[in-house]
Amino acid sequence: MRAASGDPLVTAPLPGVWSTADVERLAAERLAPDVWDYIAGGSGDEVTLAANRAAFDRVAVVPRSFVDVSACDTGCDLFGVRAALPLAVAPMAYQRLVHDGGELAAASAAAAAGVPYVVSTLSSEPIEAVAGAGGTTWFQLYWLRDRDVVTTLLRRAEDAGCRAVVLTADVPVLGRRLRDLRNGFALPSWVKPVNTDGDVGERVPGDSVIARHTSAVFDPSLSWPDLAWVRARTRLPLLVKGVLDPADAARAVDLGADGVVVSNHGGRQLDGAVPSVLALPEVVAAVGGRCPVLLDSGVRTGVDVLRALALGAAAVLVGRPVLWGLGAGGERGVTAVLDVLREEFGTAMRLAGCPDVASARALTASVR
Ligand code: FNR
Ligand code: LAC
Repeated sequence: MRAASGDPLVTAPLPGVWSTADVERLAAERLAPDVWDYIAGGSGDEVTLAANRAAFDRVAVVPRSFVDVSACDTGCDLFGVRAALPLAVAPMAYQRLVHDGGELAAASAAAAAGVPYVVSTLSSEPIEAVAGAGGTTWFQLYWLRDRDVVTTLLRRAEDAGCRAVVLTADVPVLGRRLRDLRNGFALPSWVKPVNTDGDVGERVPGDSVIARHTSAVFDPSLSWPDLAWVRARTRLPLLVKGVLDPADAARAVDLGADGVVVSNHGGRQLDGAVPSVLALPEVVAAVGGRCPVLLDSGVRTGVDVLRALALGAAAVLVGRPVLWGLGAGGERGVTAVLDVLREEFGTAMRLAGCPDVASARALTASVR
């Protein structure tokens, strides 16, 4: 039984689930090994994947004392829309791999939890159907060789009622994901990039269809003038995702970005890239309050959300834990993950002496 919305959890949201790590174990048992590897894996030696977690654990927050936290508001504004938490579901491709309900189930759970859901260019359900799930939807754009398709996707996202566009900057080519190469990873016939060409091709031993499809369809020439091009083609708030360099973040804002997502793609792109949470403070300083700075890669607990806020983030994106929830129990599993994060974040805020998100962002944190 789930606790009523807003009440502290009195029972686990799924049997035996008290943390996102519990959901990870359930998903690992249920999913096919090659699907599990596609989700869980990183690139190369998975150094950055591991470093993302290790870095979070090095962030020490200094709690404040003698603050009345009998009322605690976890809500915040994200690009003009109220969110129940400073958190959104990260864009993740091909969610029907994990559960039949796919993006529709995950977006419905996000809507019920009151947090934005970012639909990927490579979603396995159409943008319009996902945006129709009832919550706040942002559209994630990959830079495709076919510029007409990019233009059409932007128009479709606007027409579908998406509230922001998130341009991903860190996939000129796919990172070398050795698990997928070894598995000869392919998509089953019922999972397709339905927003674009609809086909990724057949299984090839020793190769990954995701990598092959990406190199055929994505345009590695993405550069600054293209950001200006996208800026000129949408009235929606524009976020740039996958930035780690402070000067790049500042330049994106100069070119009209309304938000920056500090991200290393969950350790799936450049292995050896700096953990996002370590890159965050300098990016926040370079942006200098001109727009919100978000963060992803390694967020697993409500304490991690507090850590990111204390280092200057306005909000976080959560990636794999949402797919764990989807794999463990469809919409109900994603709800369980978001419930756990809400409960953990609310508790962490109170323990840190923060009655609201603004006071969480005013906390001091250091990296040790
Ligand atoms: C991703 N990510 C991603 N990012 C993006 O901009 N577009 C996409 O289509 C995808 N697809 C995708 C698939 C899968 C299976 C994963 C795990 C990740 C990256 C994602 O948005 C986010 O940056 C990371 O997942 C964040 O790290 P954590 O929370 O997974 O550690
Ligand atoms: C991934 C892509 C497709 O990380 O963004 O798998």
